[in-house]
Amino acid sequence: MRDPLLAVKGLRLSFKTERGDLLLFHGLDLEIGKGEVLGVVGESGSGKTTLAYSIVRVLPSNARIEGGSITLAGRELTGLTERQMREVRGRDMTMVFQDPSTALNPAFRVKDQMLKVIKANAGIEGNEARVLAMGMLKSAELPDPASVMQSFPYELSGGMQQRVMIAMALTSNPKLVIADEPTSAVDATIQVQILKLIERLRRERGFSVLLITHSIAVAREVSDRIAVMYAGDVVEEGDAKKVVDSPKHPYTQGLVKSIPAPRGRKEGKTQLSTVPGEVPDLTDPPSGCRFHPRCPYVMDVCRKSMPGYRRAGDSMALCYLYEGNGS
Ligand SMILES: Nc1ncnc2c1ncn2[C@@H]1O[C@H](COP(=O)(O)OP(=O)(O)O)[C@@H](O)[C@H]1O
Ligand SMILES: [Mg+2]
Repeated sequence: MRDPLLAVKGLRLSFKTERGDLLLFHGLDLEIGKGEVLGVVGESGSGKTTLAYSIVRVLPSNARIEGGSITLAGRELTGLTERQMREVRGRDMTMVFQDPSTALNPAFRVKDQMLKVIKANAGIEGNEARVLAMGMLKSAELPDPASVMQSFPYELSGGMQQRVMIAMALTSNPKLVIADEPTSAVDATIQVQILKLIERLRRERGFSVLLITHSIAVAREVSDRIAVMYAGDVVEEGDAKKVVDSPKHPYTQGLVKSIPAPRGRKEGKTQLSTVPGEVPDLTDPPSGCRFHPRCPYVMDVCRKSMPGYRRAGDSMALCYLYEGNGS
């Protein structure tokens, strides 16, 4: 990609655990173009949230970045001080947690929280800040911004709280918005509405989005490209529709099979299939390709060494099946 907004190159990250070191990322590459929505998908435990936390650098204390580079609009972030990173987080990129309880303080009115964020990030106060806050609430499709401003979070529905969070996050006019999937069960229709809202705002304002979801079907609908993660690796990457409609990596093929068919019941398919097996324990990762113990096409070479990225149709796959295709 020429001139990406975000480029992660060769990222290495480990966690200290009671059972020894866990090397989650052992050379992760990822790019997001300007104005692009990149969907990051994969089962629970594949490293999606840790990837987001590495980019905004809000990692747990037992995590260590061992190497690699993360650039935003050409600026290297890995060497920045914590103070410089706070500025980057406030102005250049923002994380929208889909679980409102992690981002909204129940003790303060929406008005107070929004004005505080606007002051901290943009240095704007008073009437100008109020106008900005009301405008953002309105673009987040909240019908009565003035009354929302006066409300405490608990007085709003879950969907409205999420809209408030998005409005709050966008007051700084970020270049990159990172949205992590809800950890708790949020109503699926609300989730889709929120994703559509983010998509509409992205078209109007031109920011890029890193959208984390465990649902490859959701990612297909709202992303330009998809990166499929498995056990800390991006195993497949390509155009969103092509990755889902013609999956190349055996893991992606398994994820796609688990999408419920729209008329599944009529066809007598009531059971959802999932990818057989489990995400490996990365304190003792499998040799070679990390997916090999679950792969229906496993070959000898897969147990011995790590594959590289190969062209697979219109996508790139980290898989020996496409070995002859060039990188
Ligand atoms: N603080 C931590 N300490 C040790 N291991 C962790 C920690 N956070 C995440 N991990 C491990 O890293 C892997 C990826 O976790 P995570 O990024 O939360 O995945 P996802 O968001 O895709 O579910 C998991 O195997 C998890 O056990
Ligand atoms: Mg997660």
